[in-house]
Amino acid sequence: MTFRTLDDVKVAGQRVLVRADLNVPVHDGKIGDLTRLERLMPTIIELADQGAKVIICSHFDRPKGKIVPSMSLRPIAAAIAEISGRHVGFAEDCIGEVAKDAVAALQNGDILVLENTRFHAGEETNDPHMAQEFAALCDIYVNDAFSAAHRAHASTEGVAHLRPSYAGRLMQAELAALDAALGSPARPVMAIVAGSKVSTKLDLLGNLIGKVDVLVIGGAMANTFLAANGADVGKSLQEADLHQTARDISAAAAARHCEILLPVDLIASAVFAAHPPTEIVAATNVPAGMMALDVGPATTAALIERLGKIKTLVWNGPLGAFETKPFDTATNGLAAAVAAATQAGQLVSVAGGGDTVSALRAAGVAGQLTYVSSAGGAFLEWMEGKTLPGVAALQSA
Ligand code: 3PG
Repeated sequence: MTFRTLDDVKVAGQRVLVRADLNVPVHDGKIGDLTRLERLMPTIIELADQGAKVIICSHFDRPKGKIVPSMSLRPIAAAIAEISGRHVGFAEDCIGEVAKDAVAALQNGDILVLENTRFHAGEETNDPHMAQEFAALCDIYVNDAFSAAHRAHASTEGVAHLRPSYAGRLMQAELAALDAALGSPARPVMAIVAGSKVSTKLDLLGNLIGKVDVLVIGGAMANTFLAANGADVGKSLQEADLHQTARDISAAAAARHCEILLPVDLIASAVFAAHPPTEIVAATNVPAGMMALDVGPATTAALIERLGKIKTLVWNGPLGAFETKPFDTATNGLAAAVAAATQAGQLVSVAGGGDTVSALRAAGVAGQLTYVSSAGGAFLEWMEGKTLPGVAALQSA
């Protein structure tokens, strides 16, 4: 994969448009997680310190081409100022005269945030006129939004073709980590894929069986595979119409020498609630009236033992219903083992996807893996083997 980075360009005195992903979780007006903003800092500070005029653009939420005041980026610009310790300006539109005037007033080293790109319908339709408007604001384009790179929008894709384009430091770090995990990994490679539905992860499973040596299936997805093999799954969540699909995936994996690991025991309960009465049951035999809510201790122990022989791990999805205790037990146990093996230099571990990151954070180990991606949908599409338009547009010939 070849793309230019900030090492390949002199930015002093240049107007640099940085496509960031400022789409952070906000609850009751408060930013719930600053990770995306913190990870943007190396690019912003480097550009500003080198004397660029730094113009940050991003989408926020899904206003669908309309101005929705609650989806303004103004409070996020204030958060960037706080984290960076720099003055950060704000322009009330991301294109047109308002944006042009704000950019014209910039001095070298200044930082400006433009209003939500999705306040204009042309952003998501990748309207060439909108891309031209972005291009008119800058001499150089830097994409630092891997987590939005699965969208072919005017600010992620269209404008990249109109100006010399570079990957920012966060984009560069994400791509390097992902390449180490599935591009040219140290083998054996294990992938953990868990979540509630097989139906949403068909492409992902299809791609992984051709790339990894061991595929661990957890979460409610595992119930569909277990039931497809004839297990009683009680009233566990499963997709009964996908049994044949699950068998087909298993057969395709076997043909490609990819070993699929399913749970051997499960934690089951009659109700889905915090701290209900639970039983450890065989994965082949969940009693009628009970549902599996986590993988059991024998499964966790077997996975940890197997991990000892693995060199690279890609993890997407918690093993159980981790947000409701005690069904975070298996995820926490495995996460601790992954962190320890990584810290001991025995394992390259890459994790991503919304719930995975929350689960690793709750387990207290997010900082101890090789790389935890800040991307949700983009991480999944990358795991599916898809070309991400925002990345493709950066690739130099
Ligand atoms: C994300 O949070 O995954 C990205 O910012 C993309 O957001 P979107 O799904 O609204 O395009």
